[in-house]
Amino acid sequence: MSKIIVMIGAPGAGKGTQARLLSEKYGYPQISTGDILREMAQSDTELGRELKGILSSGNLVSDDILAEVIKERTSRDDCSSGYILDGYPRNLNQARLLEDLAVQQDRSIVFVRVIVHMDSLLRRLTGRRTCTRCGEIYNVYFRPPQKEGICDVDGAPLAQRSDDTAETVIRRLEAYKASTAPLVDYYNQDGRLVEVPGDLPVEQVFEKMCGLIDFSAS
Ligand code: AP5
Ligand code: MG
Repeated sequence: MSKIIVMIGAPGAGKGTQARLLSEKYGYPQISTGDILREMAQSDTELGRELKGILSSGNLVSDDILAEVIKERTSRDDCSSGYILDGYPRNLNQARLLEDLAVQQDRSIVFVRVIVHMDSLLRRLTGRRTCTRCGEIYNVYFRPPQKEGICDVDGAPLAQRSDDTAETVIRRLEAYKASTAPLVDYYNQDGRLVEVPGDLPVEQVFEKMCGLIDFSAS
């Protein structure tokens, strides 16, 4: 049975960083709902403007929009042998919809929680820079590029996300605590949750995570 790997964690926990590595290793596509919504927010339409406002406020986008996004993206051919969800589900309603989708698609789900101390998150988020072309993720404190402001992989400029300001980060952390953190208990109960210590260096987090996912798949 093909797999859905779900990355869960606070803003800045390293979901995107680890999902990219998993995608390279297993060949599953990484589906980042944040990346998809940021892309949609760039269009000069009513929906684009609405999304732009929600993203820069740090609040969650509506479940209806997310349901459409997930349904469309996961039905593409590249998802046929499995996929990685980075940023979905984010509340109980989305979690229930995902369970239905997994049944429809005949897939099993592994939930991977990346745990990071709250104290580290602010520096991770305010220090983050992302490649505008390939999406590679850097950090001015923890993972600087060789040349300031330039991607090591493809030489494109790096950018800072508009929701990575100290003020919006606080709102995002509140949204995480209120809506997403309760999912951890929900998944813990049925034994499908694996927990990875996320305060280690990126490569060590990845190694531990792969061991746990392989283990849970056997
Ligand atoms: P989204 O883009 O998903 O943001 P998020 O959940 O806040 O998570 P981040 O992307 O900020 O963090 P991450 O865990 O991916 O960390 P990263 O690997 O980049 O969502 C944005 C918005 O979209 C939401 O606020 C909401 O409005 C909307 N949205 C998205 N999905 C939604 C949904 N399902 N429902 C409703 N609304 C939705 O790492 C962070 C930094 O730390 C980087 O600089 C990285 O280099 C560094 N780092 C990573 N790992 C390490 C390490 N081990 N050691 C040191 N530094 C590290
Ligand atoms: Mg991310």
